[in-house]
Amino acid sequence: MIVKQHLIFILYSLCAHVFKVAGTKSKAKGSQGQFPITQNVTVVEGATANMTCRVDYNDNTSLQWSNPAQQTLFFGDKKALRDHRIELVRASWQELTIRISDVSLSDEGQYTCSLFTMPVKTTKAFLTVLGVPGRPEITGFTKPAMEGDVITLTCTTTGSKPAANIRWFRNDKEVQGSTKVNATGKSFTVRSSLQFQVDRQDDGVAYTCSVEHVSLTNPYMTTEVLEVHYAPHLEITHSLIIPQEGQYLKLECVSIGNPIPEPVLWSKDGGELPDIERMIVEGRELTITTLNKTDNGTYRCEASNHLGTSSAEYILFVYDPNALGQHGPDHALIGGVVAVVVFITLCLIIVLGRYLARHKGTYLTHEAKGAEDAPDADTAIINAEGNHVHAEEKKEYFI
Ligand SMILES: *[C@@H]1O[C@H](CO)[C@@H](O)[C@H](O)[C@H]1NC(C)=O
Ligand SMILES: *[C@@H]1O[C@H](CO)[C@@H](O)[C@H](O)[C@H]1NC(C)=O
Ligand SMILES: *[C@@H]1O[C@H](CO)[C@@H](O)[C@H](O)[C@H]1NC(C)=O
Ligand SMILES: *[C@@H]1O[C@H](CO)[C@@H](O)[C@H](O)[C@H]1NC(C)=O
Ligand SMILES: *[C@@H]1O[C@H](CO)[C@@H](O)[C@H](O)[C@H]1NC(C)=O
Ligand SMILES: *[C@@H]1O[C@H](CO)[C@@H](O)[C@H](O)[C@H]1NC(C)=O
Repeated sequence: MIVKQHLIFILYSLCAHVFKVAGTKSKAKGSQGQFPITQNVTVVEGATANMTCRVDYNDNTSLQWSNPAQQTLFFGDKKALRDHRIELVRASWQELTIRISDVSLSDEGQYTCSLFTMPVKTTKAFLTVLGVPGRPEITGFTKPAMEGDVITLTCTTTGSKPAANIRWFRNDKEVQGSTKVNATGKSFTVRSSLQFQVDRQDDGVAYTCSVEHVSLTNPYMTTEVLEVHYAPHLEITHSLIIPQEGQYLKLECVSIGNPIPEPVLWSKDGGELPDIERMIVEGRELTITTLNKTDNGTYRCEASNHLGTSSAEYILFVYDPNALGQHGPDHALIGGVVAVVVFITLCLIIVLGRYLARHKGTYLTHEAKGAEDAPDADTAIINAEGNHVHAEEKKEYFI
């Protein structure tokens, strides 16, 4: 079959030449303005490339397209190479357009359009084929990672031409990776690596690899979410600021850690919790329904996960509400002190005022003396704040 095709083609070429040689003498002048015009073509791998060759003024001279290997593809409307992907789109004296479908990277190169004048005129058209990058893959994920581990995430995309560009994002913020490009055949394998030491802040963080390429309208993205395991950290929160006898107290052992440390163990003064009805343990919570002075002591909660153990302590000091009530006289005393301070200050101002009226020249010196009174005023304010705390105690008591 191929031999038969080539024979047909050679026959056509010969006929054309004979025809041309016969025709050139009479049309020598006409062929001066005859030249083929082509354009470079860029297509994405797998798409269809149209190769067009035009001759604006043609005296019925044949056109031909040949591939980078110098094989004739079409001679006029006659197909010369057996390749089902190559088809004729249009053949006239002014134009020879062919179509190459399902273009592969190996189709890239210089195509030639020939106009069989004497001598033959040729024009080159470069067919550029873009390799579409593969979906990026992220490797190097250890799931879960341990806090302190050094991990290297590598994003790989194959088959791009020209080489694709890889960018990394930590959540939405861009981070710099180190990229290596490796040629594999006519396309490229691009790898970008990120190396870092994981800490608890990386737990739940999304690392995204984005591949950008001329053949893509939107970049390809792949995301992996880090899971980091870390040792627990505990804290005790309490429902009362100043616990008093008879009140209801709730302590909570708040834990962070991955995996969440479980269970939580409560102890008092280094031993077991007293076995009394007023004390209820429910998971992370320790409740004392009616505080009593005998509950005084150091409460401790402890929890572990496979990375470690942590504990937290709370020192309970149960106030006697009656004793607190005796703070009343203190209140009056503070009020008295404040009154005395205010009185002395007023006296000073009056004395100073009179003094200044007589000795205006020494105004500055006395201003400085007046400022020395400030610490007294501050003390008064601090004492007043003490009263506020006292007020809060009372509030708590009524809740
Ligand atoms: C190629 O030519 C055909 C027919 O003229 C047209 O339908 C198609 O859109 C063209 N393709 C490209 C990539 O220009
Ligand atoms: C070109 O060919 C057409 C028919 O295809 C013919 O009518 C015309 O006369 C030819 N012109 C020349 C200059 O040979
Ligand atoms: C066509 O492509 C070739 C090779 O890339 C280049 O040298 C040439 O300048 C291009 N021609 C045009 C008209 O763009
Ligand atoms: C490129 O790829 C080859 C084969 O996959 C490998 O042997 C070589 O080390 C790579 N080169 C670089 C620079 O990564
Ligand atoms: C505190 O405990 C003691 C002994 O258990 C008991 O006698 C006392 O009434 C308790 N006080 C209050 C306020 O419950
Ligand atoms: C608890 O602490 C308060 C305040 O120091 C104290 O008055 C009380 O006696 C203590 N009770 C016990 C049983 O230690």
